[in-house]
Amino acid sequence: MNLLKHVAIIMDGNGRWGLKNKNSRNAGHKAGLKTVEKIIKATIRNKIKHLTLYAFSTENWKRPKKEITYLFDLLENFLISRIEELHKQNIRLKVIGIKNFSTKLNNLLSKSEKRTSKNTKLQINLALNYGSKFELINAFKNLKKNKDKITEKNISKYLLTKNIPDPDLLIRTGDTKRLSNFLLWQLAYSEIFFEKKLWPDFNEKDYIKIIKKFKNIKRNFGNI
Ligand code: IPE
Ligand code: IPE
Ligand code: MG
Repeated sequence: MNLLKHVAIIMDGNGRWGLKNKNSRNAGHKAGLKTVEKIIKATIRNKIKHLTLYAFSTENWKRPKKEITYLFDLLENFLISRIEELHKQNIRLKVIGIKNFSTKLNNLLSKSEKRTSKNTKLQINLALNYGSKFELINAFKNLKKNKDKITEKNISKYLLTKNIPDPDLLIRTGDTKRLSNFLLWQLAYSEIFFEKKLWPDFNEKDYIKIIKKFKNIKRNFGNI
């Protein structure tokens, strides 16, 4: 049985769900947040230590302003209403990505990270304004600046995921089979599950089914 320390999720399909069910993409984002809460609870129940959630990519800035504003408002309200509760549950929140949002959201994110920084039950890594190519370029620039040798260890230490183990399992919902610039380095040996359901329809049962399958995979890491 494989140990499962880190699950990463590309939460895709909100927009399509919203259009289909409520005639509005933004309604899909709102529904998607409910799934986030369910999956956090299930992750704790399954004693998984790291959950990385892809919430906004460096490419998502191409979307209409109305949708971007709605997404960040949702996040702001979530942090304001939920951070104390997450803290009480011993959950740590960490943002992986560049915090260049409104001053209000930047501060709220930093405050939330600081407030929960000593927590140990579960670490939620929120990939927000995250892009793997940006992350790698930034790491190489740092290597050069500090005249460090180009080694696997040194590259890892300049990534936004420094000190976070690589994901054991990647799940992408929304019936799309691509990585969309997510954790290209860190996913080198992850088990990947593409799920047909749209993110707002994804539930604990679906999650457990994937976890069970993951646990029985023969992971070779190049060996036999
Ligand atoms: C993923 O859902 C959430 C974000 C990118 C914020 P989408 O909004 O990409 O949903 P679809 O893929 O358009 O249905
Ligand atoms: C990836 O989904 C980003 C997030 C889930 C936050 P997208 O829906 O943006 O990916 P593409 O553009 O279809 O590849
Ligand atoms: Mg999408």
